Amino acid sequence: MIRLSKCSIDETDYDSVAGALRSEYLGMGPLTIEFEQKLALFLNCDPENLCTVNTGTSALHAAIESLRLPKPSKIAVPNITYVASLQSILMSGHEPVIVDVDPKTLEVSSETISHLNGSGVVALIHVHHSGKIVNYENIADACKYAGITLINDAAQSFGSYYLKDNRIPNDNSIVCFSFDGIKNITCGEGGAVFSNNVDFINWIKDFRLLGVQNDTLARSRGDRSFQFNVKDTGFRYHLSSINAALGLSQLARFDFFAKKRLELVAEYEKQLVMLDKVQSLYHPQCTACPHIYVIWCENRNELRDFLNKNDVQTGIHYQPLSYLDVSNTNSDFPNSEKVFQHILTLPLHVDLDAVEVTKICELIRLFYSS
Ligand SMILES: Cc1ncc(COP(=O)(O)O)c(C=O)c1O
Repeated sequence: MIRLSKCSIDETDYDSVAGALRSEYLGMGPLTIEFEQKLALFLNCDPENLCTVNTGTSALHAAIESLRLPKPSKIAVPNITYVASLQSILMSGHEPVIVDVDPKTLEVSSETISHLNGSGVVALIHVHHSGKIVNYENIADACKYAGITLINDAAQSFGSYYLKDNRIPNDNSIVCFSFDGIKNITCGEGGAVFSNNVDFINWIKDFRLLGVQNDTLARSRGDRSFQFNVKDTGFRYHLSSINAALGLSQLARFDFFAKKRLELVAEYEKQLVMLDKVQSLYHPQCTACPHIYVIWCENRNELRDFLNKNDVQTGIHYQPLSYLDVSNTNSDFPNSEKVFQHILTLPLHVDLDAVEVTKICELIRLFYSS
């Protein structure tokens, strides 16, 4: 079976994780802080502006809580996203406002954000679908104009670019990354939050350690606090040394990962371009490290079954949130409805090769010619 997605693990990862185990210091400690410093170097930011957490979902939850909004406040979220984006709003005790997406980008457009002006929405979870970042300046401007705080759900877009050469935005927004088992780099499970606003980050540093004040400082010395104060609710969201060790070795190979993902996507693009029943939703100019490869196709379910029977795993990113009972909405989402009927995610991961991409494209050609 050709897998839809997977991590890519080599000897450097085994060695790095074994080193953490050998140190017999497994909780959050100096390795976690080293990972944060290396992440900051990679993102070209000050380590003060960033902190790690144990999942992308906790990154989103922490980011929302760090805004200290009155509860419940209205927070917008695209209808086409992973349920984590919605749950982070619900677990913070806020009210989700689900909005439709642009069918070409699968993301919320700046026009949609402008229409939220006056709706009472105070924040938006903006999901960078597939690992791309489309029209970031327009999105950020529309949010600013509408008085909406921008939380970037960059779970899929670690290593992609915002503006020219910057990997992170130079504004007052928050960026949340995921390093789960299949992301652009993996910690096994892990996440990180970035913001230019150090107040948000400092608040999250305590929040991730049950609200224990300044425990991050103690743990960076391999120590922990025994006498402390707690002012706010906090969660057990810190990143362990084992997960950080894997993140360190994965980050060191990021350039290789990005190059391989770009080459595989270029191969798909070349081979699928002549098929009129298939359209690529890839945006090359907005993607430095593609996370998933999504096509818009006719007879999606039949094609999916055909590929599955021929040992090719595919996915659907995503079923609309509005289909879930928990979303509690009666609104219409015409774009999302259409998107959901036509999108198909083809295999993309670092251990895939061009021969397998050719096999997948030949099967798609065969399906439409029969
Ligand atoms: C768009 C999006 N947001 C949030 C998450 C949650 O990240 P994690 O799995 O690290 O909790 C994911 C993970 O798949 C995601 O794709």
